[in-house]
Order: sequence, then structure tokens, then C-alpha cells
Amino acid sequence: MTKRLLTISDITKDEIDNIFERSILLKERQKRGIPHNPLIGKTLGLIFEKASTRTRVSFEVAMCQLGGNAIFISHRDSHIGRGEPIKDTARVLSRYVDGLVIRTFGHEIAEEFAMYATVPVINGLTDLHHPCQVLADIFTVIEKKGGYKGVKVAWIGDGNNMANSWIEAASILGFDLFLACPKGYEPDKKILEHAQKEAKSEIKVLKDPKDAADGADVLNTDVWASMGQEEEAAKRKKVFKGYQINKDILKVAKKDAIVMHCLPAHRGEEITDDAIEGAQSVIFDQVENRLHMQKAILETLLKSN
Ligand code: CP
Ligand code: NVA
Repeated sequence: MTKRLLTISDITKDEIDNIFERSILLKERQKRGIPHNPLIGKTLGLIFEKASTRTRVSFEVAMCQLGGNAIFISHRDSHIGRGEPIKDTARVLSRYVDGLVIRTFGHEIAEEFAMYATVPVINGLTDLHHPCQVLADIFTVIEKKGGYKGVKVAWIGDGNNMANSWIEAASILGFDLFLACPKGYEPDKKILEHAQKEAKSEIKVLKDPKDAADGADVLNTDVWASMGQEEEAAKRKKVFKGYQINKDILKVAKKDAIVMHCLPAHRGEEITDDAIEGAQSVIFDQVENRLHMQKAILETLLKSN
């Protein structure tokens, strides 16, 4: 198994399926109160240059439940924010901890960090990818739909880090993915073209949200302005108008379609309050599954280290 998880394409289909199996098992064990401590004596470092609620807390709790420890290192109170080179930080932290999660801006920063680190590195979100979130989301799809095979996923909104990771996942795992993005806000071209070339399933970028949502089993969206794009927020509000999960979109999807959002959400922008709170929403199960997925990822990457 690879010792890095920077993008979903860092792992094979078999490895991903194995991680899903472990997530299911670890969730069951947790629910039944059976202790599982394969990471006793191990420490995870979390280096975050952007805000986080779910990713940080789920990784910290995951380490605790697996018998290990986690240390949160913010750019605000470490030397990362004062310009210490990323290649030095990676080597320094590797001498103390057994694994590292990095949340940063440019994906190349995470790449450089992983190149110099001597312990496994996990991407906790970059501008280009959010692999751990998408793995947890597909685990949720498996729970709700009995698997990902034959499932049609619709993505409504920005062609952002989440969209890119969904595209890689659809290509590797082989489910259909229809994205609706405004012109100029499509997913990363290189990632999309590579995924489409390799895929046995359909991966299409459309303009009209209703075309993407038509007959979908899964309706998925994310904020119109991601972290780091705060200055574009006003412009994006105009461009993305209509790229919203709401009752009209729910009408064109399958009757039993599930509604997903990685959160945090901006109610009234990319999704309505009704859609978040409605019977078809699985958003808070999706949130919980971050924890079980992080445990499966950590166990897989850190156990034999
Ligand atoms: N979904 C997600 O990654 O949330 P946080 O930014 O709170 O970690
Ligand atoms: N696309 C969002 C995801 C947040 C979890 C962002 O990068 O801010």
C-alpha cells in the first residue's frame, strides 16, 4: 500500500474497496463498543493552513479511538506561518510523528511536503483535491444505496477540489458522474481528461443543473466560494445563481435520491435549508462517516509503519 494519500488516484481500486470494507467494520465495532487499538504508541501530526471543523476533529478522535495520539499544528502558532520552508517542516515533523495530515492551499505544497516527509502523508484538503472527504462520501453512498456500482451521481455547482476528487473516484471505481458547472468554473481540465480517458463509466460536464440531476441517485454540491476565494464570493454569487440543490432539482432526480453536502453549507446559495433538513438528506450521516473513514485510512497507512 502506498504511504501517501494526496489524491484518490494514489490508491488502487482494490485498496479503496479494502478501505471501504474496513470503514464498515470499524463503524460496527465502534457502535457495539468494541475497543480497537492498533495504533497504540503512534502519533499523528495535523498541519492546517486553512480552517477546519470536521477534518480536524474526525482525525483527532480517530487517532484517540485507535489508541494513538494527535497533535494539531496551526500555521498561526508554528514556524510554518513565519516562512520556514515546507521541505524543512516535513523532515522535522517526520522525526517526531508517525503520520502527517496536511491542509493547505496549492496542491504542489502538499506534494513537496510528501516528497520530503519520511512518514505517510494524508491530504486533509488542498485547492485541487479533498480525497478523505470523497472517500467518506462514497462510503455513505455504499451504506445508503447498497454499493457504488450502477449509481448515478450528480454534482451541481463549482468544479472545485471536491468535484476533482469525485471525478477521480468515478473513474477508478466506475460509477457515472454528471457535473453541472457554470462556464469558466469547470473542474480541473487535466484531471477531467485523464479520468474520462481511463473511465469505463460516464463522466460528463454539463451546463444545466437539471440535465445533471436527471434520474440521479445522488445529488451533491459544495460552496460556491471555497476557502481562499473569499474575495470572489460576491462575483460567484451572481455566476452560480441557479446552481442550487432545491425542490425543483429533487423533482428531476430519482424519487429515492439522496442529498449530500460535505459542509460547511451556505443555506440559500448552493443548497436550500429544506434540502439540508429534508427526508432525503444524508448529510449528517456523511459527517459521521468522516470519523469511520479516517480510522480506516489511518489504520491502513500507519499500522505497519
Ligand atoms: N468537509 C470538511 O472538510 O469540513 P472542514 O473544513 O470543517 O474540515
Ligand atoms: N470546497 C470547499 C470544501 C470545504 C470542506 C473548500 O475548499 O473550502
